[in-house]
Amino acid sequence: MSSSYSFLVLLLVISAVVLASADYKPANYNDVNDDDNQVPSSQEYKQNKPQSGNPTDENEDDEDEGLINVGIDHRPWTSMLSEPSLQSYLSNGYYQKSCPSLEEIIHKKVAAWIKKDATIAASILRLHFHDCAIRGCDGSILLSHPGSEKDADASKTLRGFELIDEIKEEVEEKCPKTVSCADILTAAARDATVAIGVPFWEVPYGRKDGLVSIAKEADYAVPKGRESVTTLIEFFQSIGLNLIDLVVLSGAHTIGKCNCGVIQDRLYNYQGTGKADPTIDVKYLNFLKRKCKRASEYVELDGETPTTFDSMYYTNLQINKGLLKSDQLLNSDSRTSGLVDAMANQPEWLFLQQFSVSMVKLGNTQVLTGKKEGEIRTKCSSINSANY
Ligand code: HEM
Repeated sequence: MSSSYSFLVLLLVISAVVLASADYKPANYNDVNDDDNQVPSSQEYKQNKPQSGNPTDENEDDEDEGLINVGIDHRPWTSMLSEPSLQSYLSNGYYQKSCPSLEEIIHKKVAAWIKKDATIAASILRLHFHDCAIRGCDGSILLSHPGSEKDADASKTLRGFELIDEIKEEVEEKCPKTVSCADILTAAARDATVAIGVPFWEVPYGRKDGLVSIAKEADYAVPKGRESVTTLIEFFQSIGLNLIDLVVLSGAHTIGKCNCGVIQDRLYNYQGTGKADPTIDVKYLNFLKRKCKRASEYVELDGETPTTFDSMYYTNLQINKGLLKSDQLLNSDSRTSGLVDAMANQPEWLFLQQFSVSMVKLGNTQVLTGKKEGEIRTKCSSINSANY
């Protein structure tokens, strides 16, 4: 391992040790508003709070303490987007007065849906990533009109929209016109992930819902599984996430499923050779060929422990059992392989703790918070002025 990777890994280990020494809530937490149990990841954002500037939100009077600046790197992923306001703030207690039962409602709904169908946890996590990937975490993936992100090819296999709609309905009954769909999706993704074994993290709230959702933006930017590591790094950087976030958040592929169509070329016609990708482990290749006879079928992203949120994803990459080409490349590219090794070889809590940290960062990407930047939708599938 080169000295720069050793340094990165060392940094990671130190940050994880610091995190591990702090309290965090267990998976089956009950008291959703217990401030004593905040994960220290939020400190990271507090440290970045600017010295000047005030939040412009309607909740500002109630929430001007403990504000978190999420404007660390607001470079938009494409020049099509306007620069977000420098006064972009989220806070942990944002809905404490205006909707005190919010987290309980979300927690109960997510738990009930997971009880009926455990696979929904992975789907909600992915839905949140797709939301944040385009125009930031603004609920744009939830808008359902012709040509919206939901309509994109990249969104074809997304699931969980109904769960978010159901939560929104109940939230609207208890706290009308108060809570954004972007915040609901962020918290639902947290609860779904915590339910399957990842350490609890506090969700800072105050996102507004976006008014714009364009399918071609999703098809252009959302990673599909065949990207080079350079493309992945550039994409993550464009939404304010770093190399560690890339490798750690990719670890989400330790659960969930993939449509066989995504890997068909790796199995039968890699780069036009008429043969399989020579880098796939032979036994795994045969297994995949049996599982993926038709492109419409599904296969687990982690072939070894598909329903456990663990670091097996990284071990799989080390032994050439990564399902997606883009995942497998993380193991062979010198910029990311050291981190893959660290995640695979160090104690599992390193990955789990760092996953929580990177999820907070993901949830804070390019959020809309100013009064005029977005709205609080009453229905997650349409903007308030829409008549569809
Ligand atoms: C790094 C770039 C990424 C690429 C190239 C990628 C690609 C993919 C692909 C191709 C699938 C299968 C979709 C299908 O069935 O057609 C998938 C599934 C999934 N992805 Fe990613 N993804 C990436 C990052 C992420 C991130 C950052 C997260 C969450 C933090 C995530 C969470 C998931 C989950 C949980 C599933 C399974 C969904 C389910 O079972 O419903 N992915 N991803």
